[in-house]
Amino acid sequence: MTDTQAKTEDEAILSSETISKALDTVPNAEFMVHNGDLVDDGVKEEQWDWLLGHSQESLLNTTFAPSAGNHEDESYAFIDHFNLDVPENSATETGAYYSYDYSNAHFVVLNSNEDSEKYANFSENQIEWLKEDVKAAKANGSKWVIVNIHKGPYTTSNHATDDDIMDPNGVRNQVAPLMAELDIDFVLQGHDHIYARTKPITSNGTASETEKITETKKGQTVEYTVNPDGAIYLIPATAGPKVYYKNQDPVLGEAFYNLFEVADENHSAIYGPDPSNNTRPVRGQIQNFVGISMDKEKLTAVTYEIDQNKNNAEPYIIDQLGIIKK
Ligand SMILES: [Fe+2]
Ligand SMILES: [Fe+2]
Repeated sequence: MTDTQAKTEDEAILSSETISKALDTVPNAEFMVHNGDLVDDGVKEEQWDWLLGHSQESLLNTTFAPSAGNHEDESYAFIDHFNLDVPENSATETGAYYSYDYSNAHFVVLNSNEDSEKYANFSENQIEWLKEDVKAAKANGSKWVIVNIHKGPYTTSNHATDDDIMDPNGVRNQVAPLMAELDIDFVLQGHDHIYARTKPITSNGTASETEKITETKKGQTVEYTVNPDGAIYLIPATAGPKVYYKNQDPVLGEAFYNLFEVADENHSAIYGPDPSNNTRPVRGQIQNFVGISMDKEKLTAVTYEIDQNKNNAEPYIIDQLGIIKK
């Protein structure tokens, strides 16, 4: 999940309810991954108290793997709240990067709050570490490599046209090609507060066509992409209150949206604009999270939605996807 990002204690209660509903919905989850913007203002301790306090029961019963968002990008606000095994001598003032293994999968958590001339939101040190880390994981036999990145290259709302994404040194031009080159399977993003997912994207930024297999389990159909060339990117909208409309800037164009398998208008749009900011849908109506499982050959991701106005605000499935690697 991503962007719990509560501004008030009531909103933090909403976010903590997403966390507990996610754990109830995916009851055998070994751990929970958060793609950043945990709070709205990382230097306000009360916001951490609200989120972690109201989520206490959930978080004491799982392992939590957080990413730093830009809302906790200063004064060591991120690293001071988590016990993370970061690379020796890596910078931690704006966030942290680290990696870990779970079974046959390797998870790489990036910090998109850094900056350098070469890589916009990343230091050269971090990118060098990423390359070495993924190579070492592959050499160690990791079958799956999953990257968590807060400010991701392939999203469909306001931030899809930000300079740090679109500039020649931006994430879409410099870091995204690396994901394909390093043979990363799945990239989980945050920051853009809308649900979307791509086709596999190759190192030259095009979508690759692959064989697909459809499987039906318990009445649910999942389409698996077989041996994809490139990484699939997904943004699980928000686990908290804040939502954005889909980006209408013509600079993105048809070619950009053709990279996506799902690129719908924000599901919150049906509830009208936010009374305090009519450039955004009303806050707090819809939350999302994704349950991911992996085995030897197959990765499956199931996306759930919580709509406060229906189904007693209990999660239901809105999307499913998978990758098969033979
Ligand atoms: Fe955010
Ligand atoms: Fe953000």
